[in-house]
Formats: sequence, C-alpha cells, structure tokens
Amino acid sequence: NLYPVIMAGGSGTRFWPLSRQLFPKQLLKIGGEQTLIQQTMQRVLGCAPSSQVLISTNAAQAELIRGQLGDWKQDLKDGFVLEPEGRNTAPAIALAALEVVRRDPNGLMLVVPADHVVSGQREFSAAVALASQLADEGYLVTFGIKPIRPETGYGYIKPNGRKLLGTRGTLKGYRVDKFVEKPNATKAAQYLKAGQYYWNSGMFVWRAATILDEIRTHQPALGKVVDRIAQLQASGAPKQTIDEVYRWATSVSIDNGVMELSSKAAVVPVKFRWSDVGSWGSLDEVAEKDKSGNVLVGRVIDLESSRSIVYADRRVVATIGLEDMVVVDTPDATLVCPKSRAQDVKKVVEILKQQK
Ligand code: GDD
Ligand code: MG
Repeated sequence: NLYPVIMAGGSGTRFWPLSRQLFPKQLLKIGGEQTLIQQTMQRVLGCAPSSQVLISTNAAQAELIRGQLGDWKQDLKDGFVLEPEGRNTAPAIALAALEVVRRDPNGLMLVVPADHVVSGQREFSAAVALASQLADEGYLVTFGIKPIRPETGYGYIKPNGRKLLGTRGTLKGYRVDKFVEKPNATKAAQYLKAGQYYWNSGMFVWRAATILDEIRTHQPALGKVVDRIAQLQASGAPKQTIDEVYRWATSVSIDNGVMELSSKAAVVPVKFRWSDVGSWGSLDEVAEKDKSGNVLVGRVIDLESSRSIVYADRRVVATIGLEDMVVVDTPDATLVCPKSRAQDVKKVVEILKQQK
C-alpha cells in the first residue's frame, strides 16, 4: 500500500507580504485556480485513495489546511499527523512513518511538499509507479529534475549511470553516487556545468520501515526519540507526554540528515514540469502571463508594463510602464521591488521579526 504524506509544516517567508507564519505558500493560489495544497492533494489522489493520505503539519496550520480541504475533509478524518512544533523534515517524516507502519508494516510512503507546482499527472503517476517498485526493494527513491540554473536552494543528485535498477516505459531508476544538499554557488555552478547532476525535487518514495531504519543508522539521537515515541504510542500515553518527547527531536532536514549519508539512495530522472516556486520572481515559471509577459492577479489595472508581477489582494492596484518589477499589495503591507531582488524579501521578514 502507498501512503502519500503531504509535508505542510514549513513557514512561508519568501512570499511575504502574502505568506505569513500562519499563512504560508501552500495555502496560496499560485499557478492555478486551486491553492498549492489543493493541487497537491489532487495530484496524490492519482496514486492512492484519500483514506491513505496523511498531512504532516502543526496544530496552528492544521485548521487553515482543513478549511481548504472541502469534500476531502471527511475521508481525511485521521489523516493529520500533528507535530507540537516544527523540528524540520526528518522528525516530521519519522512521525508520519510511525503512523504508516502502524497501518501497514510494509507500507510505502510518497512524501510530497505541499507547496510545489507540478504539471503532467500521467508522467507523475508513472514515475511514482517505478519509484514504488524500487522502494519495495529497499531503496530511498528521489525524483531528479534537469537543472536549468545554478540554484543554491536545492539538493543535487549524481546518478550512477552503470547501476540501473529498473525501468518503466522510458523512465529509468539508478543508484545515487552522490547527494549534495544546498551546495554553495561555486559548487552549484560546477554541478550544472558537469551536466550529470539532477536537482532533488524534494519528493520521495520509500518503505516507512526503511526510512525509520535509516534514521536510526544516520541520526541515532533522533532514532532514540522516535523509538521512545513509538513505545509511548503503543502503551496509549497521552498526546501531551508524546509531544514533550518530540521536542527533544534533533532538528534536521531529511536531506542533510539521511539522504546525503545513505547508501540506499536511488533516483528516477523525470520529465514532468516542476517548480518549487521559491519566490515572487519565479512566479512567472508557473502562472499565466499576458502578451507582455506580466503576471497580473486580482484587481489590477496595468498600462504597458512588461515582465512584471502585480498582485492585488483587496484594493485596486494600478501600474504603468513597469519593467521586471514585483508589486504585491495586501491590506496591511505592500511590497515593491525589482524581480531580481525578490529573494531579499526574506531580509524584510527578519527585520520585521526583530521589531516585534
Ligand atoms: N510537517 C513539517 N514540519 N513540514 C515541514 C517542516 C516541519 O518542521 N519543515 C519544512 N516542512 C515542509 C515544507 O512545508 C515543504 O513542503 C517541505 O517540508 C520541504 O521543506 P523546505 O523547507 O521547503 O525545503 P527546501 O525547499 O529548502 O529543500 C527541499 O526541497 C528542495 C526542492 O524544492 C530539499 O528536499 C531539497 O533537496 C530540494 O531540492
Ligand atoms: Mg521548499
């Protein structure tokens, strides 16, 4: 059985002022009529029934997510795996893995971030099918995306071309030679130039029992916390006690904590369109553009701008003759910056935090 696990516990800073601590990117409509988490839900339902979907998040965000689930809510009654606080992705994945093992000791997990844009359902499902086959054999399977720029915010994967593990149609799965999470700019440029590397899409397929074993091997301190939680759950301990233990979990990402270190990593290079939509500047990779390359959302009146992004949340926003600019207006904050500086929104959020 395949259990999709939607990772939805991160806090959005790069889409400020629209995203907030309590209203991150996955709850926004980006590149479609539906919000990103709704798009993600739709996508994984192509691979498994809704009764098997798990959503990994914290109590604060769970309410907002529930509000976006509509008719799916019923099927998902027990589908929330709630963390008392964000401890990064390795502990969150471990907690979800415990739930999967409880339901099915041989269960497979399909881990997907709630905040990506993916197009090509058929390609996606085919890649998941091949990945599931490899996961059944004990591999930790990643999906490789052809890199197009020396992005430092992603993981880079070098497949071992001589270690073919399986095929399905035109898709192939390989063992991984090297997994490097968020390299520096020099390294990222080298990997791009070398041509053999893929970006890690941030989606994974593995057997729940395998990832728990790999966490015990490569993050023994976290492994102990996880095993303690499993014990407490089995003995019917109150949630509060379990939450106290979770707070001791090592805060580490699955990429740094396991994928970089594991010898069981495999990669399926994929061709579906994928974007992590990392900032306002990357919105035009996925959203609909007008003739002049503008992305205009909401009540925008624009005269002769080009390649700009204008987002009007409530009020009317009028723009004239902008080039490569971002304008985002919300009831309590407004952002205006060149597209090329959109990543610096993070710094604004830092300053705001200090002022609080
Ligand atoms: N439940 C839960 N708890 N979810 C979390 C937590 C947490 O503490 N922290 C992050 N997440 C969720 C985020 O909401 C997101 O959906 C996913 O886990 C990945 O976390 P990010 O923080 O967005 O990771 P990243 O983008 O820096 O890097 C990952 O994704 C890249 C592709 O987008 C890595 O897997 C990279 O290797 C990869 O290239
Ligand atoms: Mg991300």
